[in-house]
Amino acid sequence: MLGHDLLAELGRSAPQDSPPDDLELAESPGAHEVTAVDRDEVDIRDPEACLEVVAGHDFVVNVAAWTAVDEAETHESAAFAVNAVGAANLARACAAARVPMLQVSTDYVFAGDANRPYSEDAPLAPRSAYGRTKAAGEWAVQALCPQSWVVRTAWLYGAHGPNFVKTMAALAAERETVTVVDDQRGQPTWTVDLAGAIVRLIEAGAPFGAYHGTSSGETTWFGFAQAVFAELGLDCDRVKPTTTDAFPRPAPRPAYSVLGHEAWRSAALDPLPSWRASLTRAVPIVAVR
Ligand SMILES: NC(=O)c1ccc[n+]([C@@H]2O[C@H](COP(=O)([O-])OP(=O)(O)OC[C@H]3O[C@@H](n4cnc5c(N)ncnc54)[C@H](OP(=O)(O)O)[C@@H]3O)[C@@H](O)[C@H]2O)c1
Repeated sequence: MLGHDLLAELGRSAPQDSPPDDLELAESPGAHEVTAVDRDEVDIRDPEACLEVVAGHDFVVNVAAWTAVDEAETHESAAFAVNAVGAANLARACAAARVPMLQVSTDYVFAGDANRPYSEDAPLAPRSAYGRTKAAGEWAVQALCPQSWVVRTAWLYGAHGPNFVKTMAALAAERETVTVVDDQRGQPTWTVDLAGAIVRLIEAGAPFGAYHGTSSGETTWFGFAQAVFAELGLDCDRVKPTTTDAFPRPAPRPAYSVLGHEAWRSAALDPLPSWRASLTRAVPIVAVR
């Protein structure tokens, strides 16, 4: 989901009339020439494949991950193989080739029980298998590749993958009411906003370290659902609040996943826009797919 919008953003940052949406961008003055690979071409669990694909590039962004949060509870070693060992393989390859690497991570590395935004240097204390594997990935990348950024994101939605906005749009067409948890707080984040921020971070040569790639502002899943209904021109009263306890899931969900954005400001970069303003721009693109 993020990878597709990142490719488009790398194309957009180039002075082209109509950036190709193909996986390989054409060579043009000022353009980022991108090698985009998916699992069929490079399995990041394979160290040799990582060494080969990294060579000759100016930077590497790792958006590959095991993202099935609930399934990770019962398949932690398989998730670890991608999120920790895979990230380590890429980091080792990048370090050997002296190529800076950007690793995308998650709010799930934190305990999720705070009452004010997590700073970039807050202690990691994951409560789920997915969170543990992503925390291990962060550690590996920072330990193995000195020239590395970690960008933590959360509550992602976009045109190119299943996500909450699409689910709400589909449920709105099927049911009179939908019930959504109102006791988990976070920052809905459009993949297009995150992709833009990642490209700006790299192009600016921002200091290596941790950044929080989430929207400004915060809400609950209930508030997010109501906003999706509003953007679709539907009656928001059709969304009903409930609690996490009423919806037990295999992996524990963080109650408070709001991330602070100080590192962007320290690097003289703008943090991501407000989640609510971005949703207005995103729904016509995301909810129709
Ligand atoms: N979605 C969210 O709400 C969210 C929240 C916080 C953080 N993040 C992080 O953001 C990043 C992007 O997430 P996303 O939602 O765009 O994920 P996504 O749509 O699930 O994409 C992940 C990609 O990684 C690929 N992949 C899996 N195992 C691989 C392997 N061994 N080698 C190479 N590629 C492999 C997957 O391929 P297959 O399709 O073939 O499996 C898929 O194309 C991830 O680091 C994720 O942890 C996401």
